[in-house]
Amino acid sequence: MLNKETDLYISIAERPGEFGARFHNEGFEVLGLNKIYLPRRVLPNDLEEAVKSIRGLDIKGCGVSMPHKERIISLLDRIDFEASEIAAVNTIVNKSGILRGYNTDAYGARKAITEKTGDIARKEVVLLGAGGAARAIAYVVYYLGGRLTITNRTPEKAKALAVKYHAKYLDWQERDNSQGDILINATSLGMGTNNQLPVSEETIKKFDIIMDIVVGETELLQKAQQMKKVTIPGRTMVAYQGALQFKLYTGQDYPLKCMEEYL
Ligand code: ATR
Repeated sequence: MLNKETDLYISIAERPGEFGARFHNEGFEVLGLNKIYLPRRVLPNDLEEAVKSIRGLDIKGCGVSMPHKERIISLLDRIDFEASEIAAVNTIVNKSGILRGYNTDAYGARKAITEKTGDIARKEVVLLGAGGAARAIAYVVYYLGGRLTITNRTPEKAKALAVKYHAKYLDWQERDNSQGDILINATSLGMGTNNQLPVSEETIKKFDIIMDIVVGETELLQKAQQMKKVTIPGRTMVAYQGALQFKLYTGQDYPLKCMEEYL
């Protein structure tokens, strides 16, 4: 039962999704924890007030989604190493009024990629996108020893990321000339009404493994499955990052039986 002892967790996004509430509340329920998680819509202009409320209302933790992951860094008290390296925070833990920022996307990406591919050292990886999620993936691929090529609609962002992680830069218009072992879509192409292929079918054929960070049955994943490629769906990365978030929030492992439905 909810009462004055209930710990409150929230997530903030311009367009909140359903995943976080379902994932965390199921975990709380299965473990019998007196905690609740509520997604909140927060517009960019209200971000500072939202962060003040986390302290003021003693909200114990907060998930951070688009478009706040970068700007929120300057509003927090401590930033974890990976979040600082990636320059994006997707998780806040409130410990006695000190707000610590973490990035659990990198862990989620690392686990989702390596459980399907094993060792990716020296594998040719083409990354589409240079936003917050793409930066976490670029960091992971670099440290796992993959050979990275980065392309993005806005060239400056891809160029900066390529310099940081010693990757090759590819012009967005040239993306259908790419080839390699692993293709990763970290753009929002494929999401909701934007459900279109980020590359041509011919390009998909040139890779062995296709990863899409967009959650759901995207056209990219469907085509890759039809071509019998190894696929890494967005829900895997999201579930693994959620499990680490749950651990940061509660100190406990996310229940395996809940995890199964996402994997
Ligand atoms: P996230 O935190 O999920 O990574 P983001 O930082 O807003 O979200 O990044 C979204 C990514 O999708 C970016 O790489 C973006 O490209 P730009 O850097 O040019 O904005 C990409 N993206 C979004 N809409 C796109 C579109 N219609 N075509 C191509 N790329 C798109």
